[in-house]
Amino acid sequence: MMDMMTRIATLTSETLKALWPEAEGLPGAEELRGLLAVPPDPAMGDYAFPCFRLAKSLRMAPPKIAEALCGGWSHAEVATAQPVNGYMNFFLNRENFAREMMTELAEKGDRYGSSEMGKGKTICLDYSSINIAKRFHIGHLSTTMIGHSLRRIYDFLGYRTVGINHLGDWGTQFGKMIYAYRTWGSREEVEKGGVDELTRLYVKFHEEAEKNPALEDEGRAWFKRIEEGDPEAMEIFSWFKEMTLKDAARVYDLLGVTFDSYAGESFYVDKTGAVVDELREKGLLTQSEGAWVVDLSEDNMPPCLILKKDGTTIYATRDLAAAKYRQDTYHFDKCLYVVAYQQDLHFRQVFRVLEKMGYPWAKDCVHVSFGMVSFEGEALSTRRGNTVHLDDLLAQAREKALEIINEKSPDLPDKEDVARQVGIGAVIYTDLSNNRIKDIDFRWDRALNFDGESGPYVQYTHARCCSVGRKAAEMQLPEPDWSALTDDEAQSLLRLMGRFPDVVKEAAEKYEPSMITRAVTDIAQAFNKYYYEHRILDGDPAQAAARVAMTAAAASVIRTGLFLIGIEAPERM
Ligand code: ARG
Repeated sequence: MMDMMTRIATLTSETLKALWPEAEGLPGAEELRGLLAVPPDPAMGDYAFPCFRLAKSLRMAPPKIAEALCGGWSHAEVATAQPVNGYMNFFLNRENFAREMMTELAEKGDRYGSSEMGKGKTICLDYSSINIAKRFHIGHLSTTMIGHSLRRIYDFLGYRTVGINHLGDWGTQFGKMIYAYRTWGSREEVEKGGVDELTRLYVKFHEEAEKNPALEDEGRAWFKRIEEGDPEAMEIFSWFKEMTLKDAARVYDLLGVTFDSYAGESFYVDKTGAVVDELREKGLLTQSEGAWVVDLSEDNMPPCLILKKDGTTIYATRDLAAAKYRQDTYHFDKCLYVVAYQQDLHFRQVFRVLEKMGYPWAKDCVHVSFGMVSFEGEALSTRRGNTVHLDDLLAQAREKALEIINEKSPDLPDKEDVARQVGIGAVIYTDLSNNRIKDIDFRWDRALNFDGESGPYVQYTHARCCSVGRKAAEMQLPEPDWSALTDDEAQSLLRLMGRFPDVVKEAAEKYEPSMITRAVTDIAQAFNKYYYEHRILDGDPAQAAARVAMTAAAASVIRTGLFLIGIEAPERM
């Protein structure tokens, strides 16, 4: 079913054309949709259309236009229309609306909101993209969850998606790390301490190198050995990588995040030569202080560095090779880079260079940027050692959720598992609750507030709907009487659910999972309002059946929405 506002706008546009077939400059359905408003006072109708915009084209006073339009309106099955002071006020046919909505919700079930619009199209998503030998910390939470959510959203809309973890696994730091490991480390200690031990060795290297700068050369020498594929260097390097990925896998498992490819920077090193040749052939490379760059002064950007003085490539060169590889391999219609806004310039440069190389698909590369996460009001910085490790954060979230559950529902079966779902849901919800470009301050009291706008609140509402469903299953209910769903609370819940499919599409268009977070929260709040004002299972059985069906539909839409942002929906809480 079409969203109600679109539908009314379309019918109004038809009425307009039927009444004034000759008039010029009349707004089309889309513009009308933009003009349609929800009156602050419900006595003025469910929707109102201001006729002022039509006065000029029709050379008529708005009140007259409103009267004529309402007179010509012949869709009482959708809504009745009344003219008031130049407005066309619509009153929905509430029972019909309820019937149509409920029929559609029942038909589509958990596919409600999905679509085939992406059929035959491919979206590559570069997200999470962690760095080797570094612990997975809260700074990588947003890229991981925004990317994961976008992937689910695009899947739901019928696209083929390719999830790519573009690992940061190339650079001189790995030479330094090998040197440090061989000088001050041991296999046992690294096996035991994991990525933390690698970090310790790396910090140690920098401390020592300050006293003895010659160590920098040692580090570079080891990196050269990696570049040349020296077996010893490669063995240690692969082992570091394996350890980091094992560490990260625990977090990915907890979050339910998966990838199709882990091709990171090192994967593209042998593909950068061709890119450099191509840039040179196309006359795009210029020399600058011994390095090779692509000049971007025409675009008001600093030059994009391609080859360093010593002839080695950099991050940008590997990104150029990666973009080409992805286009050649996956033939993407869009390639999204979910990366913090600090890399804004980097991506503008890379995309512009691709454009200069003559690739029409450069315009399909999109940097999906996002703000910073602080924790309990404190900015985080790896350099100052002030970080929050994701596995610690998630473990704490589970513990805290378990405490709350022990207090609120001590007899709940599978408490541990529910605590996992709730704790992790609380973290993800916080991360995806704001417009992505906004900075986020993570606070436990807010994240785990069961009554506020939070993951647990939405999950709790879902569980509440399921509980109503379990009770209803024990009753013998007749065919629903949809006239039971014509009150204000039911109608606002139905309307929010009616908008859900559009919200999913808009979230995909704007790369904005938070729109879905908002929608499920609104639906949860509307359901709770309904729940407090109405008794679902009591009274006339046919009416109860309608309310039970709406409750089940609310559970289903909330579950779908939560799934799309990567949050599980327990049935009991
Ligand atoms: N590893 C990088 C970082 O942690 C992000 C990589 C993003 N993807 C890319 N294709 N450059 O900052």
